[in-house]
Amino acid sequence: MITAIYPGSFDPVTNGHLDIVKRANKLFDRLIVAVLDNPRKTPLFSISERVKMLQKLLDPIENIEVDCYQGLLVDYVRKQKATIIIKGLRAISDFEFEFQMALINRKLEHRVETLFMVASSKYSYVSSSIVKEVASYGGDISYLVPKEVHSDILNKFKTSKFKANG
Ligand code: PNS
Repeated sequence: MITAIYPGSFDPVTNGHLDIVKRANKLFDRLIVAVLDNPRKTPLFSISERVKMLQKLLDPIENIEVDCYQGLLVDYVRKQKATIIIKGLRAISDFEFEFQMALINRKLEHRVETLFMVASSKYSYVSSSIVKEVASYGGDISYLVPKEVHSDILNKFKTSKFKANG
């Protein structure tokens, strides 16, 4: 039984994330989409909002679980008896930081392997930050985020004081 973890902030989930999740799900027995609950950062969406959006999308798909974690990713990987960390790469610019994270994670836990999946070219420019930027100015984000969570994301912008660059 091979368990893989797809970790991230998912603030909010995008079509790029969903594409990686669906493709990774074909490769492993069990895939856990794990949202980092980082007390040192102030995300736009709370941890429970991020988890709920992912559950709405992924609960109907077999062998995928949605969870959250605090602290070191490798500790969470050990707790789940997983061996694989999945990361999506959109461009070379992602690589440097991801390469560093993969090396430190392997130093911290030598049994963990990080696997990089190349983002589909149609999503290579999509990021949570871009979604927030466009939405904060009232732009159309319907092609950037899954339709199931589109209104959840828009509602956040109606109620939050979030402004681009703010
Ligand atoms: O979506 P993101 O913000 O690019 O995801 C980064 C994330 C959450 C995967 C990474 O920052 C993480 O797991 N942090 C937890 C703390 C940790 O393990 N740090 C050491 C290795 S980077």
